[in-house]
Amino acid sequence: MSPDFFQSKKPWSRYKDMILSHYLTPYLFKVCSLGKPVLVVDCFAGPGHFEDGTDGSPLLISKAVRQIAEKGKAVSALFIEERRKYFQKLQESVKDYQDICNTKHQSFEVVAKEIVGMGRDNTVFVYIDPYGIKPLRFDALAEIYANITRGSSIEVLLNFNAPSLVRNGLAALKCAQQDDSEEELDRTMTPSDIDAIAGGTYWREIVTSDIPFSDKEEKCVSEYIGMMKRYFAEVCSYGIKERYEHTIPKYRLLFGSRHEDAFLLMNDAVCKARDEFLGKQCVDGFLFDMRADDEIHDPERLRRAIMDSLSTSMTRKKLIVHAMHKVFAEYKESEYKRMIGSLIKDGSFSSRSGKTRINDHEELFRKTSSDGGRP
Ligand SMILES: C[S@@+](CC[C@H](N)C(=O)[O-])C[C@H]1O[C@@H](n2cnc3c(N)ncnc32)[C@H](O)[C@@H]1O
Repeated sequence: MSPDFFQSKKPWSRYKDMILSHYLTPYLFKVCSLGKPVLVVDCFAGPGHFEDGTDGSPLLISKAVRQIAEKGKAVSALFIEERRKYFQKLQESVKDYQDICNTKHQSFEVVAKEIVGMGRDNTVFVYIDPYGIKPLRFDALAEIYANITRGSSIEVLLNFNAPSLVRNGLAALKCAQQDDSEEELDRTMTPSDIDAIAGGTYWREIVTSDIPFSDKEEKCVSEYIGMMKRYFAEVCSYGIKERYEHTIPKYRLLFGSRHEDAFLLMNDAVCKARDEFLGKQCVDGFLFDMRADDEIHDPERLRRAIMDSLSTSMTRKKLIVHAMHKVFAEYKESEYKRMIGSLIKDGSFSSRSGKTRINDHEELFRKTSSDGGRP
C-alpha cells in the first residue's frame, strides 16, 4: 500500500465514503427505534482526515452519529487503529466528539473478540476498510456475524479486495501471473493464510483455472458471498472501479444484514452516491469517460427484473427485494414502486384489493390470460 494513502483522497475512496455516508444516516434513524443502544465500529479507522482536508471515515461517522445523538438517541462510535502515528492523529481528529466516540489503539484482530461481546447488548454496524485482505480472517469475522443467530442485530460493510485475493492466491500457489500490480502482492502469504481469509479452499481451483482474471474475481466474490449468507439474510456486492471502462473493480463493497429494510436502504445509498459521483465525474471528465450501458436508466431492464421475479404471488416488498437482487444499485426503490404501479395499470399484475395504489404489504399476482392472475 502506498505510504501516502492519506495525503489526498482518491476518487474511488470518495465514492466509497459517499456510499457509507448516504447509508449511515437513514440506517441510524431506523435502528435507533429498535430499543437497544446503537454502536458503529470503524475497525480500520486511520487518522480521521486526509492531508488534503477531506474527512476520513471516523469524521464521517462521528458527524452522522452526532446528528442522531442530538435527538436524544443512544448511539455511539468506536474507532480502532493499530498504527501509533495514525492513532494519535485520530484522537485529535475526533476530540470534539468525545462524548459519543471512543478510540482504541489496537489491532482489529484483538478487538474482534470484544466486538463479539458488544453485539450482545447493542445494535452494531461494523465498517471494515483495511488496506488489503491480510487482516480479514474469515473465522474472526464469522464470530462477529454469529451474534445474529443469537438474536442480535449486526450489519457489516466490508471493503473486500477480491482482485488482491486472486493475485495473492496465485502468488501463494507460486503460479506465474501477468500483472502489473506487484505492489498488492504480499509474498509472505501461504496458501493456508489465503484459506483462512477466504474462509475455505474454493479459491484454489478458481484462481488456477483457465478463465479470464475478471471471471476469477467474480467467482471468488460469489463464493465469499455464499459464506456470508450463512449469517446474513441479505448480502449484496458493489464493485468500485478506478476507471469506468475497467472490467475488474478496484475492490468490492460487500454488505450484510438480516433486514430487508437495510438492503433497500443500501441500494438507495449506492444509487444516490453513483448519481452524484457520475454527475461530478462526467463534468470533470476524469473518472468516468463514458456511461456504460447499465448506467443508463433503462426502464425495460427494471421491468424485466420485476416481471421475472413474480412467479405466483408475493407482497410488493418481497417482489421489490427479489428484483433488486437481480439489478442491485441500478434503480431506486421509488422506481420499483412506480414500475409496479404501471404493471398493475397495464394489466400485467393484479393486486389483492384490485387497487393500483397499494402499499408494501399488498399481495400481487401475475395475470394470466385465462384467470386474470387471481388465486
Ligand atoms: C484503508 S485505511 C482506512 C481508511 C479509513 N477507513 C478512512 O476512510 O479514512 C486502513 C487503516 O487501517 C490501519 N490498520 C492496518 N492494519 C490494521 C489492523 N490489523 N488493525 C487495525 N488497524 C489496522 C492502517 O494503519 C490504516 O490507517
